Parts: sequence; structure tokens; C-alpha cells
Amino acid sequence: MPESTVPDAPRPINEQNPFAPEPAGPKRVRTRHFQTAKQQGIPITGLTSYDMLTAQIFDQAGIDFLLVGDSAGNNVFGYETTLPVTVDELIPLTRAVARAVTRALVVADMPFGSYETGQTEALHTAVRFMKEAQAHAVKLEGGVRSHKQIKRIVASGIPVMGHIGFTPQSEHGLGGHIIQGRGESADQLIEDALAVQDAGAFAVVLEMVPATVAALVTARLDIPTIGVGAGPDVDGQLMVWTDFAGLTDGRVPRFVQQYANLRSVLTDAVHRFKEDVDSGAYPGPEHSYE
Ligand code: KIV
Repeated sequence: MPESTVPDAPRPINEQNPFAPEPAGPKRVRTRHFQTAKQQGIPITGLTSYDMLTAQIFDQAGIDFLLVGDSAGNNVFGYETTLPVTVDELIPLTRAVARAVTRALVVADMPFGSYETGQTEALHTAVRFMKEAQAHAVKLEGGVRSHKQIKRIVASGIPVMGHIGFTPQSEHGLGGHIIQGRGESADQLIEDALAVQDAGAFAVVLEMVPATVAALVTARLDIPTIGVGAGPDVDGQLMVWTDFAGLTDGRVPRFVQQYANLRSVLTDAVHRFKEDVDSGAYPGPEHSYE
């Protein structure tokens, strides 16, 4: 049959690569695909996103999940840390990202102060992200200390991604941006990872953890580990998009690979625009209506 006459039937999920983009149309990434990926050794990719345009680009490129991170506190709202950002500030960003994607799983980050007091508060926040922003899952920080909250949210049918190691919401308690899980504290990290898994999370972020310890945790867990500065022996990699694309001003952490230099591209473009307006070169006749 010529290709043009083949009916547009939904394709079966490619069991060899559960994350492979399908040319026939969008296939939603579900939490079960994370599990299959771990079992089959297929790397999971994630980027943060805070708006519709980047979400579209990352989704169309086949990135498996988009995290509307509380790093929006720094990268959108200009706070010095992630601590001040609120649920009310993150909901519109999450809604924009969720509306833009056809394939990627959208994870909403629960900000500081929106789940610590207990299970009821945690569930209330998670429900807001699912209902008002159409997120597909939520993420919250903490291992053993967040066990009850994760369990309660999961029991209500909301998928949870855990986050242990360096947890930016605790940066003052941790004494700064310090690598976690070194030496004897590796045991605590493993305990945290097991607690997150036991509570029912579908995946766990390991941030700024020695590569050897991350490898150990990855081998111990049935759920996938997503590394942010955790070396190569994890089940997936996540990066803050403004870091990976070179938009961030100043120093980025050692674990960041910059794949572009958007800051210099934009700086150059804006300088040329200003020069052209100042000199009268823009707009030209080709930009003007008759
Ligand atoms: O908010 C964020 O961007 C994050 C990642 C760094 C894990 O939590």
C-alpha cells in the first residue's frame, strides 16, 4: 500500500525504547515508561522549563520530562534563592508548560513552605498543581523527612518524583551549596533514597552527589534515579535549561555542560537592534506597509 493511503492508526508503544518519539503522532510519556526505561537501561532526559516556547522546543526534541522547577524563583522571578517562590507564582508557569507539550511528562515542583507542615498541606498543594495547572506529577524535596507527605500524595493518585542529596530549599540548613553523601553521610543518602521509594515515588532526583554514591543508590533502587550533578551511573539526567543553554549570568556549577551560548546571541541581537534604530537602518521599506 502506498504510504499516503496508510490510515492514521495509533502505533503500538515501542517496547525497545519506551521514550522513542513516534513519527505517527504523539505518545504521552507516563510514569510507567520511567520504570521500563530503568529496566531496559534506556537513559531518561529532563530539562526545566518555565514557559510555553521552551516547553514546545524541548518537547518536540524528545526530552522525556519537563520540570517546572522552583528554580523559576531565580530564573524567572529574580530571587536570590528558591525559598521565596510561591505556589501562586508557579501555577501559571506550570499551566503554560503543560499546555505546550504533547509528549513530555510535566512535573510541577512544590515550593518551600507548601508541604513541610504535614500530609494535608502537601496533598492540598499537589492537588492545586494537578487541577489548576494540569501538571502530570509533582516533585518535592527530602527523603526520610518527606516520607509521609509523599505517601499521602501517591495514595491520592498523584505521581511523585522525590529529590534528595543537595536540596536547594534547605540550603541554609545544609550550610550552602555543598555536595551531599560524601563519607559517612552516604548511609543517610541511601536511607533517604529507600524512604522515597518506599513512600511510592516513581523516580528520585539525586542532586550534587558523588558519582560513586549515586551509582550505589541507582543499583539499590527499583525506581529510576535522575542525576543533577550525580555522574554518569544514574538512570537519567536533568539540567536547568537556562544553565545548559548558556543564558544564566555568571558562574554555573561544575556539572553543567553548556550546549549553547544564548546570552551572547541575545546580547548581540539586542545591540544590533538598538544600533539600527539609532541609525535609522530599521525599519526599512521592506518592513513598512504601503
Ligand atoms: O527547581 C529545579 O530546577 C530543581 C532541579 C535543579 C532539580 O529542583
